[in-house]
Amino acid sequence: MTDFVKIPLAARRAGPLRGRVRVPGDKSISHRALIFGALAVGETRISGLLEGEDVLNTGAAMRALGATVERTGQGDWRIHGVGVGGFRAPADVLDFGNSGTGCRLVLGAVAGCPITATFDGDASLRRRPMQRILDPIALMGARALSAAEGGRLPITLAGAREPVPILYRTPVPSAQIKSAVLLAGLSCPGETIVIETEASRDHTERLLKHFGAQITVAPEGPHGRKITLKGEPELHPAPVVVPADPSSAAFPMVAALIVPGSDVVVTEVMTNPLRTGLITTLHEMGARIETLELRGDAGEAMADFRIQASGLHGVDVPAARVPSMIDEYPVLAVAAAFAQGTTIMRGLRELRVKESDRLAAVAEGLRANGVAVEIDGDDLIVHGTGTVGGGGLAATHMDHRIAMAFLVMGLASARPVQIDDASFIATSFPGFVPMLRGLGADLS
Ligand code: S3P
Repeated sequence: MTDFVKIPLAARRAGPLRGRVRVPGDKSISHRALIFGALAVGETRISGLLEGEDVLNTGAAMRALGATVERTGQGDWRIHGVGVGGFRAPADVLDFGNSGTGCRLVLGAVAGCPITATFDGDASLRRRPMQRILDPIALMGARALSAAEGGRLPITLAGAREPVPILYRTPVPSAQIKSAVLLAGLSCPGETIVIETEASRDHTERLLKHFGAQITVAPEGPHGRKITLKGEPELHPAPVVVPADPSSAAFPMVAALIVPGSDVVVTEVMTNPLRTGLITTLHEMGARIETLELRGDAGEAMADFRIQASGLHGVDVPAARVPSMIDEYPVLAVAAAFAQGTTIMRGLRELRVKESDRLAAVAEGLRANGVAVEIDGDDLIVHGTGTVGGGGLAATHMDHRIAMAFLVMGLASARPVQIDDASFIATSFPGFVPMLRGLGADLS
């Protein structure tokens, strides 16, 4: 991983974007497919796996914990799992690179096994909160033998010898916290229950069902869910077909909306309703996004989308929508900069603890490119005028989505937009730059 060599890149205005693209496989499902494959008894086949650095690190962790993980072709992987509770102690530190999802989910999976493992990551991941995972898994019997200040990486975790099931209310709507508790709950006798007041992405629940676990999901309050998992299942291998990642599709979609004359089709995008907040918001802003074809596969629906350049207007994005578009705010802020009028994005506290402090990074990058922006508590307010001056440098802070969002901005601003480092794009979206170039973008 290129932690040390920065790759600067600039995006500038060119002709319209035209063509048809398929973005890589969904990151959330890719991590989970590898982990559940490693916990199933027998051979799991995955197709369309995202082969970005984050997911490859999770694959390496599964190998270090005893599973056989093999690549058989592009996006095609075969895993021989060890069964629930069957992980062996890894010989080396588990290095999750830049990935909060990989690290947090595997902390949960190891918490239910009688082994000790050390978890670490890059400078960005070392800054991110892990106490939110250590708290519930401690209640289940796992112990952090050591951790950096504030429960941060590197962490040495001793999994529980006799894990106990819990009822846990997630303190913030987070699929990572929910998933870590459910993964630890697999090794517990009896029922593990997670209650969330705002529903977060449910790929763990869907995949657990797909692999044969007994899991029920019931509504809880106006927006929440109660998830009940019966412990100690035998997970049976099941093929996983990974749809295209809506969080990656967001970048060519917004690019097509803001570059005049563009007409782009993005294919096979997952349309799980807990992931489509951005499309709802862009429609409200006046975006011409048409759903061409809908189909389903292995428990997740997907669709092709046609996006045509559109005049956008400012909107008020409610806090209740945050979980369904948590990773899309950087690129939404770019769309808002090209809209006429003010866009208020409410309730973005969790953005401060992503790969970077995204609230600060977005505001800083927009300001550097002549966009009027304010942070008011946890709200981000962008005053759009329909055009963006550009000409500035956006600092990416080891954050792939900040890098991609500002490159998209440069495709339509009056002067080029530069980013300090494109190397982290490889964590989630290998092929991002050639894909945009293939649509007609000027990036160099
Ligand atoms: C993810 C959940 C989200 C998201 C991350 C992927 C997942 O994090 O930001 O990119 O796969 O569970 P939180 O659940 O912590 O909000």
